[in-house]
Amino acid sequence: MTSVSEHDLAWVRDLIHSTAALVLEPGKGYLVESRLAPIARAEGCSISELIARLRLLPHGPLHDRVVQAMTTNETSWFRDRHPFDALRSTVIPALMERRRAERSLTIWSAACSTGQEPYSIAMVLLDTFPELASWRISILASDLSEAAVARARTGRYTQLEVNRGMPSEMLSRHFEPDGADWRVNDRIRSIVRFGVVNLIGPWPQVPATDIVMLRNVMIYFDLDTKRRLLDRMHQTLRHDGYLFLGNAESTLNIDDRYVRVAPERAGCYQLRSHLAGGVSHIDRLVADRSRTPEGIPT
Ligand SMILES: C[S@@+](CC[C@H](N)C(=O)[O-])C[C@H]1O[C@@H](n2cnc3c(N)ncnc32)[C@H](O)[C@@H]1O
Repeated sequence: MTSVSEHDLAWVRDLIHSTAALVLEPGKGYLVESRLAPIARAEGCSISELIARLRLLPHGPLHDRVVQAMTTNETSWFRDRHPFDALRSTVIPALMERRRAERSLTIWSAACSTGQEPYSIAMVLLDTFPELASWRISILASDLSEAAVARARTGRYTQLEVNRGMPSEMLSRHFEPDGADWRVNDRIRSIVRFGVVNLIGPWPQVPATDIVMLRNVMIYFDLDTKRRLLDRMHQTLRHDGYLFLGNAESTLNIDDRYVRVAPERAGCYQLRSHLAGGVSHIDRLVADRSRTPEGIPT
């Protein structure tokens, strides 16, 4: 039982869908209640009064706070492990081979939450590929949530947060103690640039990209939004680039221009048009390591 009426719930559902494409399943009144309670408290009113006020005002900062409060920012270091293993074993070696002349790599963490994903990528790059220290490496990290991006920018994490996936030897290599917390060191922070970007809005600062991490965000979108987003990613990704999706996400039956590629369980995709040109570099690298050079059926 929730104190949010069906009428108010429907209005919040419309607001978050039109602003951020987020789909709120029916029966999630408790979620609206728990996420909006701190905002209502700060505004000195009840949740129904907050929604009544929002209905009367033109869309503004208070609406954005409500939308952002409804996002799920769950994340951790090296989340799901396999995508980061794939970066080490195949994706970055293949890109280094192809970008040797330009000596530059651009990576976009497109729903970065509080920063663990882009910082994990930066750590993989600098730890595994010392040669990249002399390359132009640009990791763009963005999210809809201003609060999440502001936290990510500080690079500061509690002990509880670093315990979620950060190996102790990497902790001592890439962090400095900061009171009871830990702060990502300047070397790692210097290659990650944060910004607020709504994936269904304009993408002002996004250049042609070698790798896009679009992990654990499409699950919140409806089919039309997924289709439009994968189409825009198609334009952003370089023809031989890599798209990573989360475990529960796929391009299957949404956009057949993407093909899932080895290694298995990494959630890694390339463009069919590039692969059609012959065996991909990634497959060649896998073959070099005496493994099956096949794309993984989605
Ligand atoms: C579950 S987190 C995933 C974080 C990270 N990619 C990972 O896999 O650990 C989902 C993130 O997507 C963001 N998000 C939701 N809707 C968005 C939108 N329309 N545009 C940009 N980011 C969005 C949320 O703010 C949240 O931080």
